[in-house]
Amino acid sequence: MANIVVFGSQWGDEGKGKIVDMLAERADAIVRFQGGNNAGHTLVVDGEECILHLIPSGILHPGKQCLIGNGVVLDPVVFCRELDKLDAKGVDVSSGRLMISKKTHVIMPYHCRMDGARESAKSGDAKIGTTGRGIGPCYEDKMNRCGIRAGDFADPALLKDKIAKALEEKNVLLKHLYGDEPMDAEAVYDEILPVAERLVPYLGDVSSAIQKAEGAVLFEGAQGTHLDIDHGTYPFVTSSNTVTANAASGSGCSPRSLERIVAIVKAYTTRVGSGPFPTELFCEDGDYLQCQGHEFGATTGRKRRCGWLDLVVLRESTRLNGPTELAITKLDVLSGLKEIKLCTAYGYKGETVDYPPQEQNGMADVTPVYETLPGWDEDITAARSWDDLPENAVKYLRRIEEVSGVKIGIVSVGPDRTQTF
Ligand code: GDP
Ligand code: IMO
Ligand code: MG
Repeated sequence: MANIVVFGSQWGDEGKGKIVDMLAERADAIVRFQGGNNAGHTLVVDGEECILHLIPSGILHPGKQCLIGNGVVLDPVVFCRELDKLDAKGVDVSSGRLMISKKTHVIMPYHCRMDGARESAKSGDAKIGTTGRGIGPCYEDKMNRCGIRAGDFADPALLKDKIAKALEEKNVLLKHLYGDEPMDAEAVYDEILPVAERLVPYLGDVSSAIQKAEGAVLFEGAQGTHLDIDHGTYPFVTSSNTVTANAASGSGCSPRSLERIVAIVKAYTTRVGSGPFPTELFCEDGDYLQCQGHEFGATTGRKRRCGWLDLVVLRESTRLNGPTELAITKLDVLSGLKEIKLCTAYGYKGETVDYPPQEQNGMADVTPVYETLPGWDEDITAARSWDDLPENAVKYLRRIEEVSGVKIGIVSVGPDRTQTF
């Protein structure tokens, strides 16, 4: 099998975890390359649900190597919690098959505090609605060249020194800007040291591990293209590059290693947190999608905003990520709708545009141009081939291929690993 990159083409929660789990069977190694535990990737195997935030979605396949790349921001406490949960289920999470790059930046308790303080200080529409997991503040420290990397966990004196230096600055902000309690460097060190020690056996050279992999490597994206720090709906985005190009730099391999590129496309659109969402529905169709699709965040439990499939969003994702195929998920959720709308363009400043406007918050000022297609009533959760789908479902999929210019390679009709063809 060729190396594969899986990425979210919308605003996250497209079903990346499910597809990665499915594709992992034929891969040798699965690697996360950006984001952190803001992600919530759901796997369902034999009716049992497993939500992963940091550990790659290949972990349920025995023997597959699971790697956490340098581009990830890793909360060591959450990582240990995830290890324990999987271990309790009998999943092998030994350091023999799970590796963290020594270059991966770690999320410290003060990053979470800063994330919360910043959000609280913003009012109304300015709130980003972050997951509160310290993602932005950790990437800030990385870019500011004062971050703590997983490799530092092997050197307690260095770790102690870095925590103290970080808090010199953070405490001024917490106390004087945000009116919050300062944090004690000794206490943070004492809290982190035991988890740091537990992580040391997992530290390694992920770049080499990828190079040495005998079979295919599967790169698991988190979030979605329109949450990308550069190309998303800035400032209502996450703090990493979510586009496929980052699979190479976020894991330590050449862009030439990326062969097959799979865009995960939910058959409709959802978004958690704030920010523009042109096809958002505020009527009973939106409630239908939310309810049928069980659209609640896998990380924060927040209700996801729901709307029609936006092919302008998909077109932009295609331009930025170069997918070789689409994986359409949650097609089953659309069963029972009389009509289904597809957004094929936007009205913007008196013109019709095929791509999102590039100005900050331009997406908030567009009007979707819709095509209306007939729906279908049949339950399609048992479909295992195109031939099992109602004619109108096939028409819907063919239209997506036509407008996006990319062929569909995978269709998912239910949360279980097997509900796919
Ligand atoms: P991710 O963040 O992209 O991995 O997606 P999430 O796990 O956050 O959200 C996707 C949700 O949809 C999860 O609850 C999955 O179990 C579920 N899911 C995935 N594919 C399908 C599908 O084809 N049909 C249905 N009904 N649910 C699905
Ligand atoms: P997966 O991998 C959906 C959103 C948050 C918020 C914004 C910034 O499961 O698809 P952050 O905590 O990253 O600073 O929050 O990004 N967000 C996600 N939305 N799925 C995700 O991940 C997300 N990760 C972050 O809701 O709007
Ligand atoms: Mg998710």
